[in-house]
Amino acid sequence: MNKYQLRVHTIQESLREQRASLLVVSPGANMLFLSGFSDQSSERLLLFFLPQDGDPFFVAPELYADQIMANSPFFRIHAWKDAEGPMQTLACALAPCRQTARSVLVDEGMRADSLLLIQEALPQARFAPASPVIRRLRMRKDQEELSLLAEAASIADHALAEISQLRFSGLTERELARALEEAMVAGSAEGIAFETLVASGPNSALPHHRAGQRRIERGDVVILDFGCRVGGYCSDITRTVVCGEPAPDVRAAHQVVAEAQEQAVRAVRPGATAQEIDQIARGAIAAAGLGERFIHRTGHGVGLDVHEEPYIVAGNPLTLEQGMVFTVEPGVYFPGQFGVRVEDVVVVTDSSVRRLNRYSRALQIVR
Ligand code: CO
Ligand code: CO
Repeated sequence: MNKYQLRVHTIQESLREQRASLLVVSPGANMLFLSGFSDQSSERLLLFFLPQDGDPFFVAPELYADQIMANSPFFRIHAWKDAEGPMQTLACALAPCRQTARSVLVDEGMRADSLLLIQEALPQARFAPASPVIRRLRMRKDQEELSLLAEAASIADHALAEISQLRFSGLTERELARALEEAMVAGSAEGIAFETLVASGPNSALPHHRAGQRRIERGDVVILDFGCRVGGYCSDITRTVVCGEPAPDVRAAHQVVAEAQEQAVRAVRPGATAQEIDQIARGAIAAAGLGERFIHRTGHGVGLDVHEEPYIVAGNPLTLEQGMVFTVEPGVYFPGQFGVRVEDVVVVTDSSVRRLNRYSRALQIVR
């Protein structure tokens, strides 16, 4: 069995345990993870079906058939033609379970038009989210996945080293974002993992500011949050730099955040819980009197999706296990003034933790 067949086999065992008849996966990370093939989600119905018993199959537009066979030759394809639409092919493919399918698990990211057609083909079924069944398998990365994640992290580190040589003052946020992206692609990344975030001056106080036309000036705090993909797997790193000599309050805030990140990372080990790691970062920032300024969770899992489980957040009792990969990214934000965030990807090892990002976390001064 290859890795996809093994993953499918594991999922089918969980379906039996959960007494679910069928799991349906839409284009995206789950499809790629389970079948070896995926594409952008679109109006053309493309789905991967895993019955509890029996062979998994695709229902796909005919124009995809060759591509699916090239990437995922292990599973059958029910192809439908543009001129006919998907319904008849879908109904035929699902005919064997039309009467028996009671509980059907569906990918949460599925388009509503796809789900409505499945509901029409399986009128007896009850529908529930698929992630409780896929989650465990996706969260614990194997060696091959870990080496892709490490490479993606390393390319992002190198891109940052390269662009930190540039003169920041006078560049727009967007120009700097493009320079980072070009450096990552030149470093053999397949592409960016998400829209590169460059937030300068007062924009750095907005945790999800993207990159706009603002020109960076001397004295600005600049948050760089970016990542790339290698073999489908993402990196995600944040560093906060200052253009010129940092003001004392910037220096102090950075020290608090970097120290909170260090403490939280050091606490990562198998057996710790996601909420404990969040609490350690939050506690360190609160102890410095900045608790109110830390307005987001401490981290998120990273894999084929840049945001996936485990979420490092208050209220998540999940126990960390070897092979889990996530970010630790505390931050503080002073509206209208500046913000600071420091983010690395870490892996839970057999006894502790390993950082995938090696770039210095000291406050960096750029020109
Ligand atoms: Co990030
Ligand atoms: Co992140």
